[in-house]
Amino acid sequence: MIKKIFSKKPINELINASENTDKSLKRSIGPTGLILLGLGSIIGAGIFIVTGVTAANYSGPALLISFIISAIACTFTALCYAEFASMIPIAGSVYTYTYVTLGEIWAWMIGWVLIFEYLISASAVAVGWSSYTVGLLGSVGVNLPSHLTGSMAVGGFINLPAIMIIGILTGVLILGAKESTRINAAIVIANIAVIVIFIVVGLKYINPNNYTPFTPFGIAGVFQGAAMVFFAYIGFDAVSTAAEETKDPQKNLPRGIIGSLIISSILYIVVAAVLTGMVPYYLLNNGAPVAFALQYVGSNWIASIVSIGALCGITSVLLTSLFGQTRIFFAMSRDGLLPGIFSRVHSTYKSPVTSIILVGTVAAFIAAFIPLALIIELVNIGTLSAFIFLAISVIVLRRTQPDIKRGFKCPLVPVVPILSIISCLFLITQLSSTTLQRFAISLIIGVSVYFLYGMRKSKLNNNDDNDLNGVKLIATDTLIETELD
Ligand code: ALA
Repeated sequence: MIKKIFSKKPINELINASENTDKSLKRSIGPTGLILLGLGSIIGAGIFIVTGVTAANYSGPALLISFIISAIACTFTALCYAEFASMIPIAGSVYTYTYVTLGEIWAWMIGWVLIFEYLISASAVAVGWSSYTVGLLGSVGVNLPSHLTGSMAVGGFINLPAIMIIGILTGVLILGAKESTRINAAIVIANIAVIVIFIVVGLKYINPNNYTPFTPFGIAGVFQGAAMVFFAYIGFDAVSTAAEETKDPQKNLPRGIIGSLIISSILYIVVAAVLTGMVPYYLLNNGAPVAFALQYVGSNWIASIVSIGALCGITSVLLTSLFGQTRIFFAMSRDGLLPGIFSRVHSTYKSPVTSIILVGTVAAFIAAFIPLALIIELVNIGTLSAFIFLAISVIVLRRTQPDIKRGFKCPLVPVVPILSIISCLFLITQLSSTTLQRFAISLIIGVSVYFLYGMRKSKLNNNDDNDLNGVKLIATDTLIETELD
């Protein structure tokens, strides 16, 4: 049994399959397109929403320090990510990387925790979308009743706008529409434009008095804040999902991953400094802090423009998260680790309709009833855990498969991956103990499901060659097409 649960996917076959398949998508995305893709998945609810809660409750005006700490942790991880993405340019994320390196049970667990990064994250982003929509409607005199726009924990009952946006995007995904790189580029440019507008306008209203006390909750608060704003960086890994559509992936994937992380870090750090300079930190505890700050200084119409830009960015992150989750389920299902329903493709829509509806329904339910801060902590702990496994995989694969061609090599292995592990672990310890407990319970459930279902149904363990061929091109549109052929 031990042999079974640690069985690994053959890495060379995966690489060959990605190179030789005649089903490949057109390799059309260059480094700029990849960076834009990354930014489209990164910039969303984190900067436009989580900043407020974090400044008010954890970091105070030292919010920018929290962003810097989190950026450092993400940089180590991005270097690890870049090595894997350049070595196995196949979509499928850490799940695939772990399957070839550490073995099936670990891959299963990663698939399980990625639910936090994608599905639960989608819920958080939808709650953010709702906050900005409610604010925007309020600014034109349309006030929605508060019991329909928030969970019980925040004095409401149900978050209907969040359910609505998830419903709409679920429909978009069912129709098989994948966000095109062109639309994504337009959204990202709009997003960056409103962030720059915010910075330029906000700079004029900075009141240095707002920076004191700089760390009202102490240095511990700054670290806890770093664990919260980590959410804002999630998404740089999404670049790897375009692996099969990338020109010269060995070079360009690392550029896309690291480039989008650098740009978003700079924007975030500056926004954090401006935001906490414009408004006393304790007033920022609201769902749309960036728009609020502009209203606070009297720039109402700019606040509306920024809100519209924010909504675009948040929508694109939401679409990526929902899409990403269905891809991961798709990959796991093709591997036999989840029921076939998750990889069944609808004959008309050519998308995994049942899986999309399930994902949308669960995400909507969480968004409707669970408060944002709680969802964010869960997303962060899940994603940080996946990043730890990624770093471990880099070290292990360097030893077990030193000769595989790596277009990009993470520098100073094992030092950088170890720093990635330490910094992610550190951020995890900064999250609340209830979050740690909830996460531990979810891991126990995950392991149980593996032994009860995944291990027994795994195609790798059952030596089903035909099906193994099917999993080589993991969770891509190519795969969906293959299914239909
Ligand atoms: N980084 C993404 C966001 O901020 C999850 O919305």
